[in-house]
Amino acid sequence: MIVDKYDGCLVMEENDLQCTLSEFKNNRSTPEYIERGILKFIFHKNNIPYNSECSFEDLLTCLPDEVLNNITTGVKAMFFSGNKIDYKSFHDSYLFYYLEANIFKIWKPMLDLQLNNLLKKDLVILDIGTGPGSIPVGVIEFYKLLSVKYPEIHFSIVIDIIEAEYKFLEIAEYMISEVISLTTPNLKVNLRKRVHQILDDEFDYSGMDTYDLITMSNFLTVNERDNVKRGASILAQLSGILKDDGSIIVIEPGDLVNGKMLKNIRNEITNSSNMNVYSPCSGVWEKKKNFSCNCYSPTRTYWETPRLHRFLYQKGINKAGREQLPFQYVVYRLDGLTKYYVVRNKQHYIQLKDLSKHINEKVNVKANIRSVIERRKSNQWAVLLCDGSCIFDKRDSEIKAVMQKTFLIEMGLIFPVITGERLTLKNVRVKSTKYGLELKISKDSKIDIEY
Ligand SMILES: C[S@@+](CC[C@H](N)C(=O)[O-])C[C@H]1O[C@@H](n2cnc3c(N)ncnc32)[C@H](O)[C@@H]1O
Repeated sequence: MIVDKYDGCLVMEENDLQCTLSEFKNNRSTPEYIERGILKFIFHKNNIPYNSECSFEDLLTCLPDEVLNNITTGVKAMFFSGNKIDYKSFHDSYLFYYLEANIFKIWKPMLDLQLNNLLKKDLVILDIGTGPGSIPVGVIEFYKLLSVKYPEIHFSIVIDIIEAEYKFLEIAEYMISEVISLTTPNLKVNLRKRVHQILDDEFDYSGMDTYDLITMSNFLTVNERDNVKRGASILAQLSGILKDDGSIIVIEPGDLVNGKMLKNIRNEITNSSNMNVYSPCSGVWEKKKNFSCNCYSPTRTYWETPRLHRFLYQKGINKAGREQLPFQYVVYRLDGLTKYYVVRNKQHYIQLKDLSKHINEKVNVKANIRSVIERRKSNQWAVLLCDGSCIFDKRDSEIKAVMQKTFLIEMGLIFPVITGERLTLKNVRVKSTKYGLELKISKDSKIDIEY
């Protein structure tokens, strides 16, 4: 890896792609110091003596029933009333459950940038609605990994955060400093500005810097009503403090309702401002300037269920037992760049909009992965595709490539596919099913993936 001397971006050399992707081969696992940091905060707040010599399991047994009940009740109740969320009694529950559930989601959009040499070695980042600091913690962990792999490069991160709730600002500051205290010698992190304010129409941007990355995670969700209503205008205003080569990353939960809202906002902002979508959606055959589609395309992070979640699961919180974390995201930029180039040479390929004319024929297709569904019973993957030529507004309009899980490995592709990768499929048979068109992959098919 080298650093571009003009824009300060990390530029991949020969082996860097494999080396970077190899990080994504295995499940993510939360370092124990992050989980200890969470416990330490909760212990201090509740005046429980914290003994750092104790094993993790022993610390968990020191949590009094009353504290634990508050946490579990909060995790169960927090987002289920259907009303606008009021975090008043939920800060500890959010920290205990959601910090870990959210830190690794940012890795995917950051990887999208890194793969195109667009990630800066010195990063100035603004995180909005930081909560317990989930995104800054995730960004620091990503850079820690880089700094270990590339000890000759000196990395730095300057972090500003905006948060409406003072209690969350305190927690975020605590968690970020816990993580900073264990950085590597060649990574410098500075939590610079903590803005305790609601980001609304009156927000005064004049005191803010300009940023390489502006992030928001679970900020434009159903539970944050006013933000959703103002989603496009918030993003348009934020583009004014984004560097010309910076990115805005929006991450939202992996459900249908939030997915639709994320895309409605995306459609509105791309139609009304100079921001463009960098990833995960991009047209294969022509550049998409405006978006009107609204399909459901969750991505996921695979992880080792962390200790705190396993503990909550034992206490009856079923959702703490998840093996994957579904989420949705959009990366916006101002410079017109998209993750993938437009393919000019269309000959020998069938666009997805024309596939129905080729039922039972073998064809070649180039498309981006919208989402991946695991069919456990048949040990298959159904990979939902999009090339920008058509819209998937109903379940029976889906187009999927169906393959045995072992197929990619047999083809020498050992990294998991999740969302946004570009697939080239050759010699695949088009089948019509009650759930839409499927591309059947057989032994004489060929597959290529661009990450
Ligand atoms: C669901 S939490 C997400 C926290 C964190 N980003 C994460 O993904 O784990 C939403 C956070 O945004 C804050 N928030 C919501 N609307 C806000 C606004 N308009 N201005 C500032 N903070 C806001 C809330 O107080 C809460 O901490």
